[in-house]
Amino acid sequence: MTTATVVLAAGFGTRMKSQLPKVLHPLAGRPLVDWVVTTSESIGDQRPVVVVGHGKELVQNELGDRVSYAEQAELLGTGHAVMQAEPFLRGKADQVVVLYSDMPLLQEETLRSLLALYRQQEAQGDLAIAMLTITRDDPQGFGRVIRNDAGQIQAIVEEVDCTPAQREIRELNPGIYCFNGEWLWENLPKLHKSAKGEFYLTDMVEIATSQNWRVVGMQAPPEEVYGINDRTHLAAAGKVLRQRINEQHMRAGVTIVDPASTYIDATVRIGQDTTIYPGCHLQGNTAIGIDCEIGPNCQIVECVIGDGCRVHHSVLEYARMDRGSEIGPFGHLRKGAHLGEDVHMGNFGEVKNSYLGPGTKMGHFSYVGDATVGRNVNLSAGVITCNYDGENKNHTELADDVFLGSDTLLVAPVSLGVGARTGAGSVVTRDVPDGVLVYGVPARAPRIQNESD
Ligand code: UD1
Ligand code: CA
Repeated sequence: MTTATVVLAAGFGTRMKSQLPKVLHPLAGRPLVDWVVTTSESIGDQRPVVVVGHGKELVQNELGDRVSYAEQAELLGTGHAVMQAEPFLRGKADQVVVLYSDMPLLQEETLRSLLALYRQQEAQGDLAIAMLTITRDDPQGFGRVIRNDAGQIQAIVEEVDCTPAQREIRELNPGIYCFNGEWLWENLPKLHKSAKGEFYLTDMVEIATSQNWRVVGMQAPPEEVYGINDRTHLAAAGKVLRQRINEQHMRAGVTIVDPASTYIDATVRIGQDTTIYPGCHLQGNTAIGIDCEIGPNCQIVECVIGDGCRVHHSVLEYARMDRGSEIGPFGHLRKGAHLGEDVHMGNFGEVKNSYLGPGTKMGHFSYVGDATVGRNVNLSAGVITCNYDGENKNHTELADDVFLGSDTLLVAPVSLGVGARTGAGSVVTRDVPDGVLVYGVPARAPRIQNESD
């Protein structure tokens, strides 16, 4: 028995009021459609087929070759959307699970239960569809599930087409179905256009029951089939997803002091015994080691942080910290910053596109850009690399054991040799050899050394 999945993602998403296609709006670090695709991947035996239409290039760019794409050139409804997947799937899968792309909270286990129901019922023959249903007081625009006196599912009626009596029904169609593949492709052409000019996938239920094929339902947890139609829904779903993500980390040994104020993307990894204090935003493919202290109040984007690091009140983007290094309060690591082991960065420091070697200290008010800094270098308060001359970014090189006095300005390109030192307030415009002390503006060595230049 093989299972294929189809994700419908061609719609406009008008109520998002956005230039961006609805399915690409980010949700806990992944685009909306990615959540459903990821769930589909876990239950299907082949790549999911995503039906694209509105904004298709953008969706394809996002999902790449994880999925196959069926194009729906004209948006003629959910039934028409599934027809586009036929060339990919006819004769290739026993069951076809159809999902709408705007249901990010749906969990794998729920789909597995639906598949299990399908398989168990199929043994009794003439099974066309196993579908999820939900029962809840707020019908939120859902189609209604119509049952006969024997309690069997007969039809789904869209809210706009309901009689007043049908409108009162609280068993609703979340739009998640497992079809008998052969039956589906055979009967899909029988759909008729609705009054709205659309082919409703939901009409397949009535087509089945009118042929005496069976449709069975399974109650899903209502909170999982939450459809995103506007940005208030996006925020509400984000809250649920974040809670799930935080709980996963906590069960895996991460301390999260206040989950309600901790925002961790689905893509982030965190090691055991790390503590996340309130007000942290951990984003993208960030990886954090074990025994770290993160927060309070940090934003960390696409960073790799080694074991035993500490990050307080700081912003880190596309940067790397090796084991035992620390930053904050109020530090900023920008793209390409790399702190070696046991580096200490204190208040109001910024590092960009630079490596700071093991044991280096940069305690207060410094900027280091486009530099390579050796081991055990001391950057006193206010040290600045003047890396930009108005046209080019220039490199600064500080060898091991360099000691820079407070307020040293390093006018790049410039390099200082092993153990070189500067006095407070130096403006260094020329290279400094190993072990030499320079000071002043521009910085010079004592006379005796100048003669040897
Ligand atoms: C649909 C169901 C309704 C169900 C509800 C649950 C139908 C006819 N109705 O209504 O019974 O209660 O979902 O949310 O199926 N799409 C396409 N191509 C199209 C039209 C839609 O790919 O031509 C995609 C959309 O991108 C979306 C999904 O199908 O992901 C559902 O479409 P939507 O217009 O939101 O359907 P609803 O009116 O909500
Ligand atoms: Ca919808």
